[in-house]
Amino acid sequence: MPEKNTQRGANTVARQPARFKLIDTVRKEEISLDGLQPTQGLTSIDVSPLRPTFQMNAFDPAYKSTSMGLSSKTFIDGEQGILTHGGYRIEDLTDNSNFMEVTYLLREGELPTATQLADFKQDIGENANVPPEVRDYIKSSNPKAKPMATLAAAVSTLAANTNDENPHHIIGQMSTIVANLIRRQQGKEAFLPSNPDLDFAENFLRMAFADDNGHYDANPAIVEAMDKLLILHADHEQNASTTNVRNTRSAGSTMAECIAAGVNTLSGPLHGGANQAVLEQLEMLATADTFLPLETRIERIIARAKDKDDDFRLMGFGHRVYKNRDPRAMVLKKFVDSVLAELDVDDPRLETARRVEKAAAKDEYFTSRGLYPNVDFYSGIIMSALELEPRQFTMIFAAGRVAGWEAQAEELNRDKMAIARPRQTYVGPTERPYIAIEQRGEHNGGPALEEPKELNQS
Ligand code: CMC
Repeated sequence: MPEKNTQRGANTVARQPARFKLIDTVRKEEISLDGLQPTQGLTSIDVSPLRPTFQMNAFDPAYKSTSMGLSSKTFIDGEQGILTHGGYRIEDLTDNSNFMEVTYLLREGELPTATQLADFKQDIGENANVPPEVRDYIKSSNPKAKPMATLAAAVSTLAANTNDENPHHIIGQMSTIVANLIRRQQGKEAFLPSNPDLDFAENFLRMAFADDNGHYDANPAIVEAMDKLLILHADHEQNASTTNVRNTRSAGSTMAECIAAGVNTLSGPLHGGANQAVLEQLEMLATADTFLPLETRIERIIARAKDKDDDFRLMGFGHRVYKNRDPRAMVLKKFVDSVLAELDVDDPRLETARRVEKAAAKDEYFTSRGLYPNVDFYSGIIMSALELEPRQFTMIFAAGRVAGWEAQAEELNRDKMAIARPRQTYVGPTERPYIAIEQRGEHNGGPALEEPKELNQS
């Protein structure tokens, strides 16, 4: 990347000394903690002195009330349903920008000038090809194997065989890998390299869908839809996969190793895997118990989603941060009509999805818990219209999210964050003597060697 695109300075935050007081009623101690005032969002309590100064940990399973540190990339107001990248609303970006520009914005914190954008696109485009070992892996991979695990293995193969130390080259390489895995799943023989002369989304679609001679007639409506999907998935502050990528980067792992970790986390059905699961649920509604009216079938899955003895969840509904509306879902809900009309696709699953959304919106279970459609609810219908199969949806999510993973991992590097290493609240057995196997009999537990020790500092 050209020298002039230098990274902005490290993140800083306004500190409010001793804003909070924590009272330990057992030790009869009072602790002062600083407040951290972000540019937007909730004040954080700086609990980092807890352990060194007061010999205490903060306890927050699943990090529901924990800020992992400073970030200037993306902001979400979950109550208002607002998402911004570098201060620009997602609606503004999907209407007016493109994926390369948003990727630049995430990295550099500012929208690029025309020259910066051209240089950036050229740099990504010219460095999107992968070593022969990755190509050979993809060509020999099982087209029926689990797609996200196959993608993670392809990215790990890249990690094993590259010396490219320029972290943002992973963005183009990821699209080459995802597109060629999609080709492989379609049974196509040729591995298609990236063409730096094409725009990012068109190049991606050409690699995925061209015939084995490389011939592809780009439909501008499909190219535009793919570009918007990539923007909508580009970053989403500290979600599970990004947290995993940041943690991996904090250990000094290479960017490709970090991205492989992110792919594995994104794969889960509660995270990126939900887009595939949504389409499977809509398919189930269309094909199971068809002797019953659709409304009754919808009532049944809503009842199952509410039943605490049933693990079934309404996929594409709910979010850890959004409790009112997911703005990405709102963009997609509007966009789905125009894409289907433009491509002359009549997908009955869209009507089913709308009816499910309506039924949930009338149900106190969903409204009282703030459960509304998230990004995954309508994205699959658009991806189907682009002739992608449900098993490929989460890979498209990854092809977009790599922009946020890379930008956030580099932000962490720039801020020189220490290795991520949480503490725990241990509730297992206290120390005890080893029992030889012949002495165990049916009893395999032993008494504690001594009472619990003072806090272990290791
Ligand atoms: N269907 C039925 N009940 C739900 C659902 C759902 N989709 N989502 C949450 N709930 C209930 C949950 O059972 C709990 O009920 P109660 O208070 O009675 O125990 C309450 O709502 C709060 O849910 P939670 O699981 O504590 O919330 P969370 O913040 O830990 O989980 C979530 C968020 C997205 C994992 C969850 O809403 C979910 O499993 N949704 C379905 C999967 C999905 O669509 N995932 C995509 C997320 S958006 C894309 C991405 O960023 O990856």
